[in-house]
Amino acid sequence: MKASAVACANQGLVKYWGKTDERLRLPTNDSISVCLDGLTTHTTVEFGRAHARDEFVLNGRPSPDPRIPRHLDLIRSLAHSELRARVESRNGFPASVGMASSASGFAALTVAATAAAGMHPDPKELSRIARRGSGSASRSIPGGFAELRAGRDDERTYAARLAGPDDLDFRTLIASVATTPKKVGSSEGMRITSETSPMFASRMSYLPGALTRMKEALRSRDPAKVAHLAEIDTLSMHACMLTSDPPLIYWTGGTIDVIREVIALREAGRRAFFSIDAGQNVFVNCPAVDAEPVRERLASLRSVTSVLLSRPGGPAKLVEEHLF
Ligand code: DP6
Repeated sequence: MKASAVACANQGLVKYWGKTDERLRLPTNDSISVCLDGLTTHTTVEFGRAHARDEFVLNGRPSPDPRIPRHLDLIRSLAHSELRARVESRNGFPASVGMASSASGFAALTVAATAAAGMHPDPKELSRIARRGSGSASRSIPGGFAELRAGRDDERTYAARLAGPDDLDFRTLIASVATTPKKVGSSEGMRITSETSPMFASRMSYLPGALTRMKEALRSRDPAKVAHLAEIDTLSMHACMLTSDPPLIYWTGGTIDVIREVIALREAGRRAFFSIDAGQNVFVNCPAVDAEPVRERLASLRSVTSVLLSRPGGPAKLVEEHLF
């Protein structure tokens, strides 16, 4: 059977960085995110006897990513199936944006593969399965502004929506800067940070208050407040990364250029705030009315290669259009 799905990537607003169980991908802390409608992945999955082994094609090229067959194994075990699959994925944004998103990828794969395997999971179960592929992918299932609760076990660890995509006049400008070839992946980076950073414990004690403040800002539909709190959380997470041993320095000169420009924009009266995940590119969050002037300024920076405007995105969903 064949099925296709589209899912958005998401940006951590109160970020997930640390696991209590690596195999089950149980996070150390609750996290909150916003889906990005500018960054989507479209995936088609077909299980069948015609496929001798799992095959994965990403953006037109065969990809050896071992996490894909592992995720298909999980879905096969849940569906009591032995059939191999052909999987084809396409990102709905230019490669120059430099965002290889495991969140949109595993959310779309989960929705398409469970349907292709004949399962009918509810959103909670979909979010749990997506989490096993990549923790942040669980938050792309409900879409909008979502919270992943750090439960004690698999059953209790899934994401749910806190606000819909249209509930806040919130915009994100995704500023890409020149890429650097070497990057420590999230799983390894989280392990290094939680084992070695002297600031990790202090982040853990700051988080409950940060989560409460973020939920209040979402409830009061205040985009500038949400953006400001995400900047504060970014610096907390990167303080832990920077003080890990070995240090995790995801920022480049271009990253710093964008940070400085955002601060200058604020001094000039714009409500714009930066947010950075485990990479060099910068999300600049702002209320919708500030988006265009902020975009212009970011695009004028020499170290910025592209600026993509994104609105809050919707849930991962099945679509009729198949990629093969
Ligand atoms: C920095 O979901 O990529 O973007 O579960 O190991 O696949 P794994 O990690 P991943 O981690 C994302 C971390 C982050 C912050 C966030 O999105 O909350």
